[in-house]
Parts: sequence; C-alpha cells; structure tokens
Amino acid sequence: MKKADEHIEPKKETPETKQEVVIHAKGIKKSFGKKQVLKNISFDLKKGENIVVLGKSGQGKSVTIQCVVGMLTPDAGKLEVFGEDVTALNDDELKQLRMKIGFLFQGGALYDSMTVRDNLEFPLTRVLKLKDQKEITKKVEGVLDAVGLLDAIDKMPSDLSGGMRKRVGLARTLIVNPEIMLYDEPTTGLDPITSREISELINRLQRKYEISSIIITHDMECARITADRILVMNEGEYIAEGSYKELEKSDNEMVRSFFNQPS
Ligand SMILES: Nc1ncnc2c1ncn2[C@@H]1O[C@H](COP(=O)(O)OP(=O)(O)OP(=O)(O)O)[C@@H](O)[C@H]1O
Ligand SMILES: [Mg+2]
Repeated sequence: MKKADEHIEPKKETPETKQEVVIHAKGIKKSFGKKQVLKNISFDLKKGENIVVLGKSGQGKSVTIQCVVGMLTPDAGKLEVFGEDVTALNDDELKQLRMKIGFLFQGGALYDSMTVRDNLEFPLTRVLKLKDQKEITKKVEGVLDAVGLLDAIDKMPSDLSGGMRKRVGLARTLIVNPEIMLYDEPTTGLDPITSREISELINRLQRKYEISSIIITHDMECARITADRILVMNEGEYIAEGSYKELEKSDNEMVRSFFNQPS
C-alpha cells in the first residue's frame, strides 16, 4: 500500500489501439413521465478500460448505468453489451448478462444480519448455485484477500468502518468474476485516505482481472487516480470527453469547474 502522502500521478495516456468494445451506447434516450432525463447518450467502453463519469446531481448518471444492466429500458437508441442488444433480452438472458456485470450501488448495502462470510457466500449459492463448500470458501477467501480484508471474514457489517464496508461490497460484486464493473459513487462518504485506497483498489482490480469499468464519482481524486478517460454529463448528454489532463484545461467553464473544486 502506498503511503498516504505519496503523490500519485494521473494515468498515462495510452495510444489508441483497436480494443474490443464491451459496451456500445448510441443515442440513448430515457424519460420519466414528462421529464427527459437522458437526451442523447453515446459512448463505447473498451475492454480493460476505466471510464469516469462526472456530472452534477440529478443529471442521469445512475439512470445510464441502470439501463446498461437492464434495470431500466431506454426509450430509444442502441445499447449493446458484449455485442448483445440489452433491450431485446428475455429475463433468463438478462440474468446471464448480469452475472458478467458487477454493480456497486450508490450507498451499496450489505446484509446487516449476516457475517461478512455469509454476505459473500450469498451470490455464490443464490446466483451461481454453487454447492461445493470447499470451492465456496476458497472463493470467499480469495476475494477478501484481493480487497485486503481477509481478517474481517467472521465480522458483522456493523463492526466494520465505512471504508471496510465498501470493500466488502466490492468483494461481493467481484466474487462472481464480472467482466464489467459499474461503480456508482464508490468513495462517497469516505475520508480522503480511505477514498484513495478504494480508488487504488479499483485500479488494481482493473489490472489483475482486466475488468472494464464505469466509475461515477464526484470525487476528483478518485477520477484522477482511476480514469483512463472522463465523460462529463450535463442535462442528459455528455458535453466533454478526454483525459484528466485534457479536461482540466478545457475551454468550457462548466467542465473546468469540476477540476477546480476545493478538496
Ligand atoms: N426510477 C425512476 N423513476 C422516476 N424518475 C427517476 C427514476 N430514476 C431516476 N429518476 C430521475 O432521473 C433523474 C436523474 O437521476 P439519476 O439518479 O440518474 O441522477 P444522478 O446523475 O445519478 O445524480 P446523483 O449524482 O445525485 O446520484 C432525477 O431527476 C431522478 O429523480
Ligand atoms: Mg446517482
């Protein structure tokens, strides 16, 4: 683990390569009643890439990723995940797809009445329908080790700090080996040092498992550490796209304002 005061360089810009696209969104629209939340959302997430989405509250960031997992259906546009049209999938096919996608919900809750171990076994026994206890234990220990929390295996969520709970939540989504991770505000409510640890963990998981991720955040340090590419969302559209270094110097004042927040 890096020391807290060690300066972390933003990610290096990588040359454009022909990478596999895991999520392809084109012209997505979504309204609730008369309110149009998504006006025109288009992006490609490439394999192994971290995209960070910035945007003020209520702009449709969470709605966008809820469309990706089929929890919400777009009114118009094209949305393909692993080359499949999400809107055309039946319930069984959606279930299959969701097994490949880890979703760390905004405020992502653990089951408070279960130990960490039981929280982690849950997706294995209920979703993957695994029965072999040895295999289950091995997976639980492996994933807790990956998030640095093997010691907490028999603790209750109430005995853990906010940062530790976030990490257990992360472990619970990772345990089914997702190819895509959707992080909705992974560092909100955490102190700066713990936030940084979570951001670095996101990068480690990206490297270790070649996971492709969408990271929604208001935390610019998290954006700086994790982003290969940043999208800025405003009123249901992306108004800017680029690396941290590029957008920091954007001509658009609204875009720049995210980068000049007091921290
Ligand atoms: N299931 C729903 N039914 C009706 N309206 C919804 C639903 N989900 C979201 N909305 C509305 O869509 C808008 C965008 O919501 P969303 O949760 O995507 O915002 P956000 O960008 O994630 O904001 P925040 O940064 O506060 O999390 C809000 O006005 C919200 O009230
Ligand atoms: Mg949200």
